[in-house]
Amino acid sequence: ILPVGIWGTGIYVPERVLTNVDLERMVDTSDEWIRTRTGIRKRHIAADHEAASDLAVRAARQAMENAGVTGEEIDLIIVSTNSPDMLFPATACLVQHALGAKKAGAFDVQAGCTGFIYALACGSQFIAARAARTVLVIGTEVLSRLVNWQDRNTCVLFGDGAGAVVMGPVPEGYGILATRLGADGSGGPLLSLPAGLSRYPASEETLAKKQHFIHMNGREVFKFAVKVMEESCQEVLQAAGLDTPELDFLIPHQANTRIIEAAAKRLGLPLERVWINVDRYGNTSAASIPLALHEALEAGRIQDGDHVVLVAFGAGLTWGATLLRW
Ligand code: ACO
Repeated sequence: ILPVGIWGTGIYVPERVLTNVDLERMVDTSDEWIRTRTGIRKRHIAADHEAASDLAVRAARQAMENAGVTGEEIDLIIVSTNSPDMLFPATACLVQHALGAKKAGAFDVQAGCTGFIYALACGSQFIAARAARTVLVIGTEVLSRLVNWQDRNTCVLFGDGAGAVVMGPVPEGYGILATRLGADGSGGPLLSLPAGLSRYPASEETLAKKQHFIHMNGREVFKFAVKVMEESCQEVLQAAGLDTPELDFLIPHQANTRIIEAAAKRLGLPLERVWINVDRYGNTSAASIPLALHEALEAGRIQDGDHVVLVAFGAGLTWGATLLRW
């Protein structure tokens, strides 16, 4: 099997910033509550004219530049999002057109906040099987359009943004060493956006019940998150014959500082080896892993030869981890 890795990364966040103090004026909450329960201080919110594909294209252009790849060289575009521009066409097709990636196939992957890990796994399989050489994988979200801005339980948590990576073959011993994907549909109701499609088509009733917004049981998701973050990290390390001390850096899904800290503690991993940016971006769902990965690379926190784990959990319920040697 051909070894597959990441050639370049890129990110984009909308200009507008919404702070906790801004939220105090919108719902019954406080900066203190949000900071102590979630670690979040601010988040970026898309402008009215910006949708998921617009953010994706900006992040993709930076990743392509960093990888030294042109639109024409891309064989496949996979977009992971829970807030696509529309149900169809796929957001990946809108991105394909905007990038002039004339030879690329394009499709979307949806797996809640784990979407980027799923998309990365898809992309790497195409390359390993020699069905594609250069794959663009993007996580992009404009969840600000899907949250109920009157529901303090959810509206303080999410932010908008995008991150992208260009994947391709790498030398033997580098790139993706192990992947673990998980799902438990019995937990689906814990985190959902129920209406607007075939189960509950849009109607006056679904609108009145606010079923077109995100619904979440935060406490249950929290418990699940800590457990699967630790377990899936261990599983990918074991699959590659490694122990936690050999893990150089962890890029966790950015939902809540307390979840990240609890998972790191269970793993016995010091926080110096974990990237945390949820304080600045909130939970950007499928975009959070590539946003964090790009920042950690830019900050020089990941060195050649390092073992890095990307790990996420989310709606579905889903979870997943990828172990890479950089
Ligand atoms: N401001 C003030 N009070 C609030 C707010 C708020 N923004 N939100 C909730 N509260 C109140 C609740 O109403 C509750 O009050 P009550 O006790 O009178 O009922 C109280 O605060 C405590 O609520 P808890 O649910 O116990 O708070 P908890 O410590 O669990 O924190 C949180 C809540 C932050 C949501 C946490 O559970 C969490 O982060 N869960 C994980 C959520 C998550 O990661 N979701 C994304 C998954 S990824 C995806 O696929 C989208």
